[in-house]
Amino acid sequence: MQTVEVALTGRSYPIYIGDQLLERGDLVAHHLPQKRAALISDTTVAPLYLEKVAHALNASGVAVTPVVIPAGEQHKNWHTLNAVFDALILNRCERKSTLIALGGGVIGDLTGFAAASYLRGVPFIQIPTTLLAQVDSSVGGKTAINHPRGKNMIGAFYQPLAVIADMNTLNTLPGREISAGLAEIIKYGLIRDVPFFKWLEDNIEALVARDSTALAYAIQRSCENKAEVVAADEREELGERALLNLGHTFGHAIETGLGYGTWLHGEAVAAGMVIAARVSQAMGMLKSADVARITTLLERAGLPVAAPDFGLDRYMELMGIDKKVEGGKIRFILLRAIGSAFLTADVSAAALNTALAGSAANV
Ligand SMILES: NC(=O)c1ccc[n+]([C@@H]2O[C@H](COP(=O)([O-])OP(=O)(O)OC[C@H]3O[C@@H](n4cnc5c(N)ncnc54)[C@H](O)[C@@H]3O)[C@@H](O)[C@H]2O)c1
Ligand SMILES: [Zn+2]
Repeated sequence: MQTVEVALTGRSYPIYIGDQLLERGDLVAHHLPQKRAALISDTTVAPLYLEKVAHALNASGVAVTPVVIPAGEQHKNWHTLNAVFDALILNRCERKSTLIALGGGVIGDLTGFAAASYLRGVPFIQIPTTLLAQVDSSVGGKTAINHPRGKNMIGAFYQPLAVIADMNTLNTLPGREISAGLAEIIKYGLIRDVPFFKWLEDNIEALVARDSTALAYAIQRSCENKAEVVAADEREELGERALLNLGHTFGHAIETGLGYGTWLHGEAVAAGMVIAARVSQAMGMLKSADVARITTLLERAGLPVAAPDFGLDRYMELMGIDKKVEGGKIRFILLRAIGSAFLTADVSAAALNTALAGSAANV
């Protein structure tokens, strides 16, 4: 097992990465203020892993209330959140009862927001079971639900007490979900880690094939990158954390525009990163050879590189509802080079048009 620390004053927490960690009730129990937890999962993950986790927790003396919600991005909303609150209240969960998220980013984001707001805040632990959640969403304390008009528009910063990433859970993950996780992994290389980007160029097929050594390294390196950024700018006030949103302004527009769950989050981010690279190129910053390198790596990861053709006006309308909008201006993450990202509101309609036209597909 490897441990990556997220260093936050007074609230540091470990990310445990390894095999057979679902069986380690002790890892979770160690962090609980009361030997009581609600285990929140979805209809796909619960039949696979809920009993195993509940059993391990029981063996460590923890009483468990299971709460199972429907799987999928289209359920990351108020209605489902309220169903979680119903279950917590009916089962008399208390201030010291811990909410444990067992699932992908949807479960993690929704459970985290439930934990942030139930009784004004209860303890929270992440057990991510998708590659995307293990490398990104379970770390850093961004929690949210979607609004019909905008992704993740309602939420809170709320850190977990621990993250437990059991790599064995990836064995049951569909290939499309592995690719979606690779999009966020590639993102770290693009925004801040050139050696990692090069390593990914050498190892992407091994990752797609779920080679465990390659996956362990990619998960660890991603968590280290995320932990560093979060420690430097927990609440996205200094600009550094916003860089983790490379491809997301366009990606969120794709997810909302097509309807939540049509494209996976990671797929939308992949196509969004290609648009961001093309905008950077249109503005004279990124070399066309680097745009090609980025596009090729994403393609090799099994990801879409052509975005839906909504047209510039619709993209602008969709992107206008984004947490990064400031003073009414949409702000974008662009690339100066591979490994060097920056935040700017200064993007011309012409550059956007060129980029969107160049990467559009009829979906
Ligand atoms: N909070 C953050 O910082 C952050 C970062 C990135 C993404 N996100 C959010 O994460 C979400 C995407 O997460 P995701 O890609 O994990 O999606 P997801 O939670 O929808 O999981 C993908 C699918 O895989 C299933 N599944 C999960 N684990 C499985 C397993 N081990 N075996 C078989 N099936 C399994 C789920 O039931 C679901 O159907 C988006 O809502 C996105 O906005 C949040
Ligand atoms: Zn993301």
